[in-house]
Amino acid sequence: MSNQRVSRRQFLNYTLTGVGGFMAAGVLMPMLRFAIDPVLAAEGKGDFHATKQKVDDLTETPTRVDFTYEQKDAWYTSNVTQTAWVYKTKSGDIVALSPVCKHLGCTVNWNANKSHPNMFFCPCHGGLYHKNGKNVPGTPPTRPLDVYPVKVKDGYLYLGKPKANNLV
Ligand code: FES
Repeated sequence: MSNQRVSRRQFLNYTLTGVGGFMAAGVLMPMLRFAIDPVLAAEGKGDFHATKQKVDDLTETPTRVDFTYEQKDAWYTSNVTQTAWVYKTKSGDIVALSPVCKHLGCTVNWNANKSHPNMFFCPCHGGLYHKNGKNVPGTPPTRPLDVYPVKVKDGYLYLGKPKANNLV
């Protein structure tokens, strides 16, 4: 058994420090959780956004589809508008391409240059893409346009987050 004795002053110091720390943790933990929770929240998997595009109205000619959705960025909520060029293939598959040029990020348009009909054209530096999004060698872009994952619900087109196009 130890001969060391705890003085009344030491006992009060230990007790008050312990209780004070416990109370402080009780106050700080919810604040800390509130502060970092949105940052740690996992992004929903397979987030698709509704568009006003009826799938039956799509043709083999790319159509510009603008869509807006609410985006939560940690504590800040904003409305984001995005664009896709959407068409149906001969076999009926839906292809939705991002209009963001893979050179320096300008916006590409379908059939916008008379010298290069039925292609996506980037006005900034003359970038060219085939209908399926593949970049034309010899023009500034070095990669194909990104593709949106697509989903059809109640006859309307839903678009996911654009991802790299695997065209070689
Ligand atoms: S940004 Fe499109 S060609 Fe340069």
